Amino acid sequence: MSKSTIESILHEERLFPPSEEFALQAHITSLTQYQTLYDKAKEHPELFWAELAESELHWFQKWDKVLDWQPPFAKWFLNGKINISYNCLDRHLTTWRKNKAALIWEGEPGDSRTITYAQLHREVCQMANVLKDLGVQKGDRVGIYMPMIPEAAIAMLACARIGAPHSVVFGGFSSEALKARLQDAEAKVVITADGGFRKDKIVPLKSAVDEALQDNAVPSVQKVLVVQRTKQDIPMVGDRDVWWHELQPTASADCPPEPMDSEDMLFILYTSGTTGKPKGVVHTTGGYNLYTHVTTKWTFDLKDTDVYWCTADVGWITGHSYIVYGPLSNGATSVMYEGAPRASNPGCFWDVVEKYGVTIFYTAPTAIRAFIKMGDQHPNKRDLSSLRILGTVGEPINPEAWIWYHQVIGQEKCPIVDTWWQTETGGFMLTPLPGATPTKPGSATRPFPGIIADVVDLDGNPVGTNEGGYLVIKHPWPSMMRTVYKNDKRFRSTYWEHIPPKDGKYLYFAGDGARKDEDGYFWVMGRVDDVMNVSGHRLGTMEVESALVSHPAVAEAAVVSRPDEVKGQDVYAFVTLDSTHEPSDELKAELKKHVVHEIGAIARPGEIRFTDALPKTRSGKIIRRFLRNLAAGEELVGDISTMEDLSVLDKLRQG
Ligand code: WTA
Repeated sequence: MSKSTIESILHEERLFPPSEEFALQAHITSLTQYQTLYDKAKEHPELFWAELAESELHWFQKWDKVLDWQPPFAKWFLNGKINISYNCLDRHLTTWRKNKAALIWEGEPGDSRTITYAQLHREVCQMANVLKDLGVQKGDRVGIYMPMIPEAAIAMLACARIGAPHSVVFGGFSSEALKARLQDAEAKVVITADGGFRKDKIVPLKSAVDEALQDNAVPSVQKVLVVQRTKQDIPMVGDRDVWWHELQPTASADCPPEPMDSEDMLFILYTSGTTGKPKGVVHTTGGYNLYTHVTTKWTFDLKDTDVYWCTADVGWITGHSYIVYGPLSNGATSVMYEGAPRASNPGCFWDVVEKYGVTIFYTAPTAIRAFIKMGDQHPNKRDLSSLRILGTVGEPINPEAWIWYHQVIGQEKCPIVDTWWQTETGGFMLTPLPGATPTKPGSATRPFPGIIADVVDLDGNPVGTNEGGYLVIKHPWPSMMRTVYKNDKRFRSTYWEHIPPKDGKYLYFAGDGARKDEDGYFWVMGRVDDVMNVSGHRLGTMEVESALVSHPAVAEAAVVSRPDEVKGQDVYAFVTLDSTHEPSDELKAELKKHVVHEIGAIARPGEIRFTDALPKTRSGKIIRRFLRNLAAGEELVGDISTMEDLSVLDKLRQG
């Protein structure tokens, strides 16, 4: 399927209902069933969640009260006692799942491991005991800075088992970023590896830990537990550093799970906000376990026969909720892949799908656009027939990428679940249910049952159909963040004060712009700071990007606003071209015309700049802040430590 034959429609009207065959076998089989669940959850949220908590999870002791809501602070399943590692491991051992693959891991160099539930349980217990021996007690924070190897998941589950909140720091973050996070979390122990393999290079994780801890910069850290992965020589510091492979053989595999209070902290995960300092998003145990469990089950229509693969890194919330906790709580087989598509193997993802017969594949739009750029020959060479559901997350997906995903990867038979959510929300908020919800390319469709979402203006009044506004959540849900670590004030001001309470009801402000269409479908436009105002018209950067990407010459586009005397703001587009096209003035003019054709004259880019690559964070998000600076001819402001490739900026500056 060539890109030029993909139709481009911005006001997307195509509807993709689930096939009858798919719907019949699904957990949630129809829109009517979805609506019944949604209505029940809206009318009786506490009853709805309590019934699921009872049927889906194991509790050591039942709760006294389902919800305590003292806005903006929520508590769920008060006095309930639970351990998420028990729900992810122990309870499967008394069933046939004992010897089912829990994790299938593929290393970048081609090595692999399959770990059953029984084996995973054993290793988690051993690591939990090692952590205890290193002095970790219930409530102590543990930093995890790991490559994508099974021990990353083992470390998380081991912490959860003994009640030590973990704070996973993405392995692509620099030592400076790691230091700041370990300091804020006051971690007692850090779990890391000698290194990891990424894009045919070794990521020197242990030396980054050494740098972060240099000169006693993080005085709380007493021990560093090091997993051997790459086997390169690394220095070990006297009494501080210990090897996992030396301690594991003698560590006991008997470690009863700590009965945690439902509201005990499970983890802190740092995420970028509008200010320079990352926020420590706090999640607790019971509600998070429940919500990630149920969303994984219904949104991915998860069955015991599935081979489920989420391509995220465990360093992000997607990895926490949808590689580790959600899938394992359901007893699923979860694939973990260490590598990334790279010059030496651009088709590696499709190799993994073919090798393990992946049935559910969950990735990000930025990856999908990269696949488009690499060409259809890579997926076309592999057998992808095992796939039955595709998912996307992280940013709005442009309809063209959606259609490509549907046609080339999904062979037109796989429902696509476009899941909108955030580090703060813990789990999916807006998402299709694949057997029930007809999808529209580019829309995350409807709220998950129990989520009361709306689009409002700054006073909290709902806006009209198809009008842009702020995406808010109106009722607490089990996996909502509880606070910003050690900073209730920032929690309040970031999420609950931009929009004042309406009729006494608090609104969670997500920071995203959205519109709701005539069918009640949500269209997320991106962060509100990415929404432009051109001649008084609200315009999503994403809309213009979609328009550009729908042109056959364009591989990827990033659009920012540039101050303009007359219009207020003007549209400035950075464009990378498909390998078969060359930059030229004619092409610029053609692309501008194309955008006008797709959206209207208000969206005509004032400037189009061709570039080989766009500045991205290591998680693949385009850093528009820098592009805005470049577009406005200003110095770059802000932190560049999260960038994947610094040379991209240099080139853009020179160009
Ligand atoms: C964006 C990632 C549109 C959004 C799970 C949100 C999305 C931010 C989608 C959170 C989606 C995530 N459609 N936008 N399906 N999913 N986003 O915390 O702007 O890394 O606020 O969580 O990503 O990013 P975070």
